[in-house]
Formats: sequence, structure tokens, C-alpha cells
Amino acid sequence: MFDITSIARPNILTLEPYRCARDDFQEGILLDANENTYGPSFTEFSVREKELELNRYPDPHQIPLKKRLCGFRNSEACNPQSIIKPEIGRDVKAELLTPANVCLSVGSDGGIDLLIRCFCKPGVEKVLVCPPTYPMYDTCCAVNDVEMMVEPLDLNTFQIKPDRIISRLKDDPSIKLVFITSPGNPTATMIKHDLIFQVIDAVEKMSWNGLIVVDEAYIDFCPIGSSMSVLVNKHKNLVVLQTFSKSFALAGIRLGVTYSTAEVSMLLNTTRDPYCLNKGASHAAMKATSKKALDLMKATCQKINEQRSLVSKAFSKIPGIGKNIGGEDANFILVQVLNKDGVPDNKMAYQLYWKLATERKVVVRYRGEELACTGCLRVTIGTPEENVKLLEDLESVLREGF
Ligand SMILES: Cc1ncc(COP(=O)(O)O)c(C=O)c1O
Repeated sequence: MFDITSIARPNILTLEPYRCARDDFQEGILLDANENTYGPSFTEFSVREKELELNRYPDPHQIPLKKRLCGFRNSEACNPQSIIKPEIGRDVKAELLTPANVCLSVGSDGGIDLLIRCFCKPGVEKVLVCPPTYPMYDTCCAVNDVEMMVEPLDLNTFQIKPDRIISRLKDDPSIKLVFITSPGNPTATMIKHDLIFQVIDAVEKMSWNGLIVVDEAYIDFCPIGSSMSVLVNKHKNLVVLQTFSKSFALAGIRLGVTYSTAEVSMLLNTTRDPYCLNKGASHAAMKATSKKALDLMKATCQKINEQRSLVSKAFSKIPGIGKNIGGEDANFILVQVLNKDGVPDNKMAYQLYWKLATERKVVVRYRGEELACTGCLRVTIGTPEENVKLLEDLESVLREGF
């Protein structure tokens, strides 16, 4: 069931969408927004800095960028090889994404925070997450005084358990958001679409009123048409989060994208800081979403995937390194570090992490404390040269012992 009035917080429902004089007039002598028309006091300007008119507020709506993002996701979904294609409705045009389905935020971390602020009453309503998962859900819940419930993944497959999630929602209507990370972090495992559909289909028939948020930060490392973003008009309880930080290689601009129904999207856009997307970020994102740049992005993801296979294979031959316990659906792998008895070991993993960073200047991430990740390091796939150095250093540090 989807009823926005019982999903959103009442104070959010009554917010008026942000409007400014610039929505109606963009040209002329602009004295409407208390900007400094003298311009910044830089002693020198690059051509680009001049063009950006940094003394002016950025466009709060970003329709050209939203159009590009929708065009990209729609075209991927309609590709003959697309995995999601059979799920798109018959009236393709009515179902696919438009800018009304998009909210841009300061990273997808900003999107996570926005969703919690819009849909969970502090101290009353809750969020459900499926560990091992991305720790920022926990932080955002804590900041917003929203209780976080957990329903672990199947710890052998790192897939969700739909029956368990559905029963948690039946038992506790105060859960308003479910975060499903696909591909997962630190699991690098894409959640099977049919498992997510089991949850969505059940929710559509239940009296539970909330949103199933699929966090697709790493989706471009998966086969074409893996994103569920194109289904938000068909399945109203579905929300999809994406980011420019991974496949687009633009972590520095802090840009996240939330796809949801026009109703949900309107609330998110009304709640967020209207000028949260700065001109530098908008400029870089427009460059990154031209047809040529998108083709290059996909080709780079493919290269990273090839490197990931090589690194994973090489890891399996290094004495002291155990299994890659995660999947192969993201730009990182999750590997075990073993003790002398061949058992995954947190102390060994932490020491290896520390030695690599301090003695070899190679920094990976220790993840041993995460559920079912004992002894694990999460290793991001780098360039071929970086990967060779990582493997050499890892092997020699392990050989030297510690
Ligand atoms: C699963 C997941 N979601 C969201 C994010 C946050 O991305 P952003 O850089 O857009 O805030 C990350 C970052 O590592 C992530 O792993």
C-alpha cells in the first residue's frame, strides 16, 4: 500500500516547495537574492571561474542534469541486454523516469539523511537495515534520533531474507524505511532482483506504509540494466539511491541522486537545502553525463571489473590470505586474513592493514568487526600499477611476518 500522507512526517507534508524570484526571471540586473554583484575578491580568475559566475546562487532545480540522468537510466533499462527490461510495464513511456522523479543531494549520504528526516519521526519511528552493511545508515539514524533495527543478510550468501523483512514490517508498523544495499558494502554482492521484488510485492498488499530504499552506490559495476531506478513509478514504495562517487569517479563533488515517485521526490526536494548542489558540482556532473562521458564511464567500470578478477585470483594464491567472502559486483573485494592455523583472524587483519599503510603507504580498509566479516580487509580495486604494488607489498609483508 502506498499512502504518502501516512508515510511522510506531518510537518514535512505541509512544507511549501521552495520558490525564488529566479524561478521566474533569470536575466537582467539581478538584485533579488542579496548576492554580491561585485564578484569574488580573487586576484586572478580562470576562464572557467569567470563563466561559472560564482557570486550567483546555483540553479536549485538542475533540470538539464536531471534530464540527462533519467535519459541514461532509461536507455540502460531499455537496452536489449538489460536485466530489468522484463519488469518495465507495457506502457514504457508512462513508467520510465522523468526529472520529477529525481532529488539531488550532497552525496548519497545526504540522500540517506534526507529520507530519514522526511519519513521518520524522531524518537518514534524506525529504520530497518540488513547487516553487514554501510555504517552511515547507523550514523544518520543516531543524528536524527531514529532507532535502527537490524535484520541480517543470509550470512552465507549475503542476500536479503525477504520473509524475515516482511514479518518485521508486519510486526512493527513504526518501521518507515528499509535500506537494502545492492550491491552491498562491504559484501560486494548484488541483491537478487527477485528477492527485492518479494519484499516490494508483499508491501504493496500490506497495510504497512513505508519505503523500501535500494542503495545502488555500486550499480554501474553490475551488468547493464541492473538498476531498479526505472521502476519507481511502477512500484510506489520503491526508492533508489545512487551516487557520483564510485562509477563516475567524482567523490570530490559530493553528489547523490535519489529516484522515487513524483510525490516522494517533491517532499525530498522541498525539504533539502535548495542550493545544496554547488556550481562546481553541477558543472562536473554535466560533463560526466554527456553521451561520450557515459560511454567512457561504462568502459572504465569494465576495466575495473577485469582488474578485480585479476586481483582476486592473485589474492587466492598468497599464503596467509583466505577466501574472498564477498561477491564480484562492486569496485572492491572483501578478503580474509588467516592466522597460522589457517583461521580468519581480526588481529592479523588489523596488523596487516596497519603495516601496509605505515610501511608501504598502501591503505586498505579493516572490516573485521562487521557481522560475519571476521578477519576481513576490504580492498578497493585501483589502476593496474596500484594493484601490482598492493599485491607485491601484501605478499612481502605477510612473508616477513609480524
Ligand atoms: C553503500 C553506500 N551507499 C552510499 C555511500 C555514500 O556515497 P556518497 O559518497 O555519495 O555519499 C557509500 C559510500 O561509500 C556506500 O558504500
